Amino acid sequence: MIFLTLVFVVFVTFYLYVQHCHSYWKKRQIPTLKPTFLVGNLWETLIGTKNFMVPVIESCRKFKDYKYIGFYKCLTPTLIINDLELIGQVMVKDFNHFEDNVVEVSADTDYLMAKNLFSLKGHHWKSVKALISPMFTAGKLKLVFPLMDDTAQKLIKYLNKRVQDGRHHCVDGKYLAHQFTTENVANCAFGLTAQAFDSEKSEFVDVARDFGTPSFTQSLKLNILFMMPALGKYLSVGFFSKYVQNYLIDVVTQTIRYRKENNIIRNDYLDLISQLKEKSKEYKFDDRDVAAQAASFFGDGIETSSVVICYNLFEIAKHSEVQNKIREEIQLVRQKHNDCITYEAILDMTYLDCVVTETMRLDTPMMVLFKTCTKTYEFPSPKGNIPGVIVHPGDPICIPVEALHRNEEYFPEPDKFIPERFAKENKSNIKNFTYLPFGEGPRFCVGMRFGILQVKMALVHILSNFHVKNNAKMPETPLVDPGTFMRMPIGGFWFDFEPIQSKT
Ligand code: HEM
Repeated sequence: MIFLTLVFVVFVTFYLYVQHCHSYWKKRQIPTLKPTFLVGNLWETLIGTKNFMVPVIESCRKFKDYKYIGFYKCLTPTLIINDLELIGQVMVKDFNHFEDNVVEVSADTDYLMAKNLFSLKGHHWKSVKALISPMFTAGKLKLVFPLMDDTAQKLIKYLNKRVQDGRHHCVDGKYLAHQFTTENVANCAFGLTAQAFDSEKSEFVDVARDFGTPSFTQSLKLNILFMMPALGKYLSVGFFSKYVQNYLIDVVTQTIRYRKENNIIRNDYLDLISQLKEKSKEYKFDDRDVAAQAASFFGDGIETSSVVICYNLFEIAKHSEVQNKIREEIQLVRQKHNDCITYEAILDMTYLDCVVTETMRLDTPMMVLFKTCTKTYEFPSPKGNIPGVIVHPGDPICIPVEALHRNEEYFPEPDKFIPERFAKENKSNIKNFTYLPFGEGPRFCVGMRFGILQVKMALVHILSNFHVKNNAKMPETPLVDPGTFMRMPIGGFWFDFEPIQSKT
């Protein structure tokens, strides 16, 4: 009897505690979608029926008159910012109140993720970002351009071989784009040949693939890291497996040592990253720190860009007039640049730029950004007479990127693919903080230029040599996989490549 009473008391206390947590926004008169017991607004995400960005978009649409909305990541109250001026304050103007990304990883569990620029906090982040940012200037990109060109030639050779073998229909697009970005990142960042297009086994490719096609447990870990960071820290959840960590640290340290001993200068990112040890004054870099910065190419350089390449191919294949127009532009620009695809030639392709920009609006890879409050901040009233809300250090803030990109007030006919929105004459119509595929402010994506360049290189070379069609396996409007943090369609990407007579 005593035992049953105890169980009852524990259960009721727990129930009341959950109800207390889920009344946080109601007490502050901030609207929310109805939370589900214990899991808040993540029920459909956790049972795998809807990606977590769906309830975020639903919240923004349902309460569109409010400058901010409440959300429950399980028991944690989170503020979704639904107003451009306030988004600007969080990301730029009052950035010193929201300096950190939401990820919490302990260096003991996952050194590479913990010391990666994305996860670094406060002073560490500031000094490392100041050192890393100059690596992605136009001048540095020009240095690695020949390496990218080399990878693009390998991609075309590989596709031509598939044509000869009659295997150019129903190509797994994600796999193909992943081969390209893996080879490119191995080449530009690690100074290696990954052999991603060869049939021979390569450890670099295995590691990249292991990383890029996460198992159920890895996806779960990712969701915990971003959606429930406190739980992630408590459970010592990491991102890179021990095997990937050891492999990357070994590759980076051995290659740097080899180059030093043999006086090899390759003008790639590893050369630049290896200088961090000497250049850094405030923050002491060791070999593992250098590896951690190189490792960010794994997460962002390989994965994000390959997803962007696929969505571009998908939209281009779906809109044949767009495909023809890009091909015409490529030919015109080539003529202007002595029949070569140079760095400057890529920059001259303004229509291609509109296509890539529009694809990243419509199919943005990072659908939501989570920030953490680092210094107490008072938001003004969300609407009418409702009082403002004070957020405290550690409180999560959500920037609803996908909801902004699909808001008809900012982008008329938001579900339509219209590259001309971003043409020079129309660009002034785009309001600040409505287009955020790379974030904004001091936490802005450091590798944006590299990412965009490698996406364009893949597209230019593919479209110069092949007509791209979506295979019958590809739905007209693919649904976003509920289990992934980065946008991926359910069922993946499937393309047919028809060769055309042109140069690579
Ligand atoms: C087209 C591909 C890419 C997309 C869509 C993308 C997107 C993003 C986004 C949305 C953020 C968060 C920004 C914010 O919080 O405000 C970010 C941060 C970051 N990205 Fe990228 N990224 C891409 C390519 C790359 C590449 C190639 C690298 C290479 C190293 C990279 C490295 C990083 C790093 C280190 C951060 C953290 C920056 C910081 O916290 O200061 N990204 N990226």
